[in-house]
Amino acid sequence: IPTHYEKDVSSILIPHGVIMDRVNKLARLIVDESNGPLVVCCILKGGHQYFADLVNVIKKLTTKSGNSVPLSLEFIRVKSYHNDQSTGEVKVSLTEDECKEFKGKNLLIVEDIIDTGATMVKLLEKLRQYEPSSIKVTSLLIKKTDRSNGYIPDYVGFAIPDAFVVGYALDYNEYFRDLDHICVISEHGKERYANP
Ligand code: PRP
Ligand code: MN
Ligand code: MG
Repeated sequence: IPTHYEKDVSSILIPHGVIMDRVNKLARLIVDESNGPLVVCCILKGGHQYFADLVNVIKKLTTKSGNSVPLSLEFIRVKSYHNDQSTGEVKVSLTEDECKEFKGKNLLIVEDIIDTGATMVKLLEKLRQYEPSSIKVTSLLIKKTDRSNGYIPDYVGFAIPDAFVVGYALDYNEYFRDLDHICVISEHGKERYANP
């Protein structure tokens, strides 16, 4: 833990090395089950680290099946959180022109976490209107919470308990993205970086 965050996290939930092992396995699984080119969609900002590491593995990967897939990369900005609460209002930054490009393509959505599931359900509703030939979703984390709408992605890294987690690009009011491990934020951290 960098010294600037020492008091702001209460524990390391998933160390960076464990994340990377899981990313390697997920990449293999995704490539094995793909047929044809993939449009890999990074859900900004939280998805950027998982996306970068996943793409990096996929592009170097030769699987047992000998399967290998050409990738194109897309970036979608989606936001709904303020402090540790979902606002319920999901903003998706995609122009009409960008959406039209998805027609007939195989999309792989890369997200950091499914919490309530509201973000992913809203995003998928929007993307389906543009008739991609398939949509698969991978999320590094899924939270076990009674606030969940029941959405489960196709490829999941880890199921985690109902705590507010940060690091590996997951933020609390934009802080902690610069932390390698996935950690539980402390009360000290919540107070220090709270927004009005
Ligand atoms: C977070 C996270 C997911 C979403 C999950 O994004 O990165 O995209 O919330 O929550 P949900 O399942 O309850 O909808 P956020 O809105 O904080 O934007 P960010 O990725 O830029 O941090
Ligand atoms: Mn996000
Ligand atoms: Mg966030």
